[in-house]
Amino acid sequence: MDDVVVGPLDLAARVDDALAVQAVAFGLSDEEVGVRRHIVLRHLTQPGARALGATTPSGRLVGFVYGMPNDRAQWWSSVVEPYLRREGREGWLDDAFAVTELHVLPADQGRGIGRRLITLLTDGADEPRSILSAIDTESPARALYRSLGYRDLARPVHFPSAPSPYAVMGAPLPLLR
Ligand SMILES: CC(C)(COP(=O)(O)OP(=O)(O)OC[C@H]1O[C@@H](n2cnc3c(N)ncnc32)[C@H](O)[C@@H]1OP(=O)(O)O)[C@@H](O)C(=O)NCCC(=O)NCCS
Repeated sequence: MDDVVVGPLDLAARVDDALAVQAVAFGLSDEEVGVRRHIVLRHLTQPGARALGATTPSGRLVGFVYGMPNDRAQWWSSVVEPYLRREGREGWLDDAFAVTELHVLPADQGRGIGRRLITLLTDGADEPRSILSAIDTESPARALYRSLGYRDLARPVHFPSAPSPYAVMGAPLPLLR
């Protein structure tokens, strides 16, 4: 961690580097990278979209996070809304900062980089709470989110074309230290 700096990331300019990180960390095929590229660039046109990166002194990107104030008109919200409504929790879609992606290269995981990325990103949000979705298994990501105060709002949530079910999680801001 000592040599890795977390700070603002021009994600539009570094989208290929970021997706290379995600491809290794999360597992994306070349085809999925192509699809994600369009989605990321479209997300970055949303009001309030922000990204942070973790970079080595030579400028190599080893992790990134991005998100934006949640917008019910967006695809993600439209998929999760009926699941949250069923739980009486659809109000979480309003006044919430949505964390869209968080990934750290496997070689750099477990050094506090992911925690710093998501904490710093949400610290900059004006909203009183944060929402996200994560694959519905007991992964390091889910352990991290819980330790930051995220709780399950709805599960299992099925996204079209995603093979695994997800959990939608929400936390008050600022995140727990
Ligand atoms: C989730 C992810 C970004 C976390 O990044 P990271 O830099 O390794 O996280 P940190 O070092 O800050 O660890 C923070 C917490 O994560 C959890 N964690 C990290 N590695 C873990 C592991 N191997 N097993 C269980 N929990 C783990 C712990 O709660 C840890 O807190 P602690 O250090 O106080 O015990 C990283 O594991 C990753 O990129 N995973 C693959 C992609 C992914 O799943 N992204 C999230 C999509 S929803």
